[in-house]
Amino acid sequence: MSDKTALRRCVTLVDDEPAALDILMRAAKSFHFDCQTATTAESALEMLERQPTPLVVTDLCMPGNGGVWLVQEIRQRWPDIDIIVVTVGADEAGLLQCMSAGVQHYFLKPVHIDEFHHALQATWYSQQMRRKQQRHRHHLESIVHKQTHRLRHTFFSAITSLVRTLEARDSYTSGHSLRVCKYAMQLANYIGLDDHSKKRLNLAAKLHDIGKVGLAEGILNKPAKLSEDEFDLVKEHPVIGERILRPIVRNRTVLSAIRSHHERFGGGGYPDNLQGEQIPFLARMITVADCYDALTSSRAYRGAMTQDDALNILHEGMTTQFDPHLVPPFIRMLRGGKKRAKPR
Ligand SMILES: [Fe+2]
Ligand SMILES: [Fe+2]
Repeated sequence: MSDKTALRRCVTLVDDEPAALDILMRAAKSFHFDCQTATTAESALEMLERQPTPLVVTDLCMPGNGGVWLVQEIRQRWPDIDIIVVTVGADEAGLLQCMSAGVQHYFLKPVHIDEFHHALQATWYSQQMRRKQQRHRHHLESIVHKQTHRLRHTFFSAITSLVRTLEARDSYTSGHSLRVCKYAMQLANYIGLDDHSKKRLNLAAKLHDIGKVGLAEGILNKPAKLSEDEFDLVKEHPVIGERILRPIVRNRTVLSAIRSHHERFGGGGYPDNLQGEQIPFLARMITVADCYDALTSSRAYRGAMTQDDALNILHEGMTTQFDPHLVPPFIRMLRGGKKRAKPR
């Protein structure tokens, strides 16, 4: 039932006795309610389907399916409709069923006009109050939704500038994380990854090296091979990254993708020496994108490789370093091949 319909001051009256129906109708009209009337539960339901009203007053004992059935049907289809039951009082079980279905009031026949008036008014006011509260709740929900959206936007802007700041320290890796993110997302689209996982991959790829924030510039920019101690420090960056982000990014899939982006498919990677499918899927995707970008970018100690050379290295590293299900589509994608079926 739409909000607009609910606010109309109108009622559906249902009784198989024409005289009783007439009394109810005259009473409701004298209280300024528009009325529609039915003499069976079935016709009342059809009427409500065409024109729902916020209130229904129904007799219980009627030929056909009867009032209890009508109350239950209304409850199921239009939970917002308020129901008042009028009965001769012989059907106690039916009355109990109606009350448990959430009937607001009931009257024993003959109906006293004052009581009926009071019940109609009280039900009408409580309905209006409910509508008001609903509108207020929707209003609050939309404010919360907008604020959440703003916060997320601010958070992602801050993260992006943090990554840029981090990479600006080293001209050789400048733009690395955003490029890794771009390649990983291209691969995600190419293999038909679902939208949910794509959002997580986007964040994880952008932040995968955030743990390098604590590394000395001398190590980041070192034009020669790193010493064993220096390499041990570098190897901590996935765990540091996970630790830095844990209070902000609560999603475990994102955190585990960051933690595991230096694992090797055949084992022997860091920090956990995982292998094969033990390595989170998003981490395996980032590994491929990460290595491709590292190979095709200049470093302090070497120039950038061509696309072909870099893709050959990825191909050679299938099963030892990279997921063998991801390298072929990545190569086809960069060489402009057709999409393959989703791998999982
Ligand atoms: Fe890394
Ligand atoms: Fe990286």
